[in-house]
Amino acid sequence: MKQKTYFPAGFPRGKVAYFVTSNIHKFQEARRVLSEYKIATAKLRVGAVEIQDDNLENIAEASVLDAVKTCGLPIFVEDAGLFIEALKGFPGPYSKYVYNTIGTKGILKLMKNIEKRSAHFQSVIAFSSPDEQPICFRGKVEGKISLQERGTSGFGYDPIFEPTEGDGRTFAEMTSNEKNGYSHRAEALRKFAEWYSSGNKRIF
Ligand code: IMP
Repeated sequence: MKQKTYFPAGFPRGKVAYFVTSNIHKFQEARRVLSEYKIATAKLRVGAVEIQDDNLENIAEASVLDAVKTCGLPIFVEDAGLFIEALKGFPGPYSKYVYNTIGTKGILKLMKNIEKRSAHFQSVIAFSSPDEQPICFRGKVEGKISLQERGTSGFGYDPIFEPTEGDGRTFAEMTSNEKNGYSHRAEALRKFAEWYSSGNKRIF
């Protein structure tokens, strides 16, 4: 029996990856990281559910399963969140809602007069295909919330997040390549790329 293939001729699995996202910044970050592994990244716009849950993995898994059902392709999605220690992990999995409502300025207001400004970003990549259950890859970056917004590149909370390993600049003061040297997403993407390009396949 002929084996089912979900990839265009000349682009075997491991050489091309479909990223379901509507976020051009996430796509550009992913394209750069995956190209280090000789993987071409294609951006797919497929409507996918985004459930409310306090666990990023559950959100990413539900989203990739829904998108696979719609497009019938092997794809990956990514879900991320900013966790602020002094706010007991807020906004965490609710980062998108909080960004769209109070935004970075609102976070800075909540952090007014708070000295302990440690925070981290987490990223979860979930990959799945019509014949595979989701597999997740995680990344994390430690840092702190700056006293004011700085920088214009990147997106979301980038202007108020200073990675600990960096030189004091926020993500928004870095190039996309520099951000990829530290970021939660780049770490998760590298784990995914190692697995994907080495031909690993889990069939359940
Ligand atoms: P989601 O993964 O798109 O659901 O992201 C949740 C929220 O966190 C969004 O509002 C993004 O703007 C923000 N966010 C996710 N990743 C990053 C990042 O790398 N830098 C800054 N903000 C981010």
